[in-house]
Amino acid sequence: MKIIETKDYADMSRKAANIIAAQIITKPECVLGLATGSSPIGTYDNLVAMYENGDLDFSEITTVNLDEYKGLTRDNDQSYYYFMHEHLFDRVNIDSERTNVPNGMEADAEKECKRYEEFIKSLGGVDLQLLGLGHNGHIGFNEPAPVFEKETHCVNLTESTIEANKRFFASADDVPRQAYTMGIGTIMRAKKILLVASGEDKADIVAKAFFGEVTPDVPASILQMHPDVTVVADAAALSKIPR
Ligand code: GLP
Repeated sequence: MKIIETKDYADMSRKAANIIAAQIITKPECVLGLATGSSPIGTYDNLVAMYENGDLDFSEITTVNLDEYKGLTRDNDQSYYYFMHEHLFDRVNIDSERTNVPNGMEADAEKECKRYEEFIKSLGGVDLQLLGLGHNGHIGFNEPAPVFEKETHCVNLTESTIEANKRFFASADDVPRQAYTMGIGTIMRAKKILLVASGEDKADIVAKAFFGEVTPDVPASILQMHPDVTVVADAAALSKIPR
C-alpha cells in the first residue's frame, strides 16, 4: 500500500485526479470504478478542468459505480446516478451509454445484484477503482459485518451511516435504509485501487483500517491485502497513523 500525504483537500484532489488522468491517458479504453460522497468531488472537479483544457479525453472509457441507494429514482438529487451526472458525466465527453450505476429502482435485489456483478465481469474487470472511506470503515456501502460480503449485494445501512448521510437529506427519516453495493470481492478484483480521505474526522478510521487488524468489522482493512492500492490523504486524515 502506497500512502501519499497531501497538504489539504485541494492538494489531495489534484493528486488523485492526476493518478486517474494517467490511467486514462495510458489506456483510453479503460474501465474506471467510481465513487460518490464528499471526498471525491474535488477529484472530479480537477478531471473536468483537465478535460476543459484539452488534456483529457473520456470518449472511450467505461465507468461502473460502486453503489446506489435502493428505492431512489434517478432524478432524485440524492441518488448516486444524479450525483455522478452532476459532478462528472454531464461535464465531460463521456459516452453516457458507457456509464453504469446499480439500478436502485429495481425492486428485485437478487436480480439487480447478479446483473451488475456479471456486467462488471463481462467488461473484463475494473482497471482503476476510486474509493472513499466511511467513518465506520465502509467502502462502497460494505458495512461492518461478521464476514466480508464478496459479490454485489443489497445492504441494510447502519445507524451510523444513516446519521452521517442525513446531512444530504431533509431529515434522517428520508435516508433510504438499503442500498446496492459492489462486494468486497468485486472491489478487490480491481487491478488498481485509489482511496481518497480528508479531514480530522477520518483520522481514527484511516489508522485503524490501514494499520490495524484485517477484519470484516472494518471493511476497508481488506485493502491491506490488495497488491496495488494508493491512499491519497491529507495531513489531517493521516494525523493518527503510526510514524
Ligand atoms: C457514503 C458512500 C461511500 C463513501 C462514504 C464516505 O456512504 N456510499 O462510497 O465513501 O459514504 O463519504 P464522504 O466522502 O462524504 O465522507
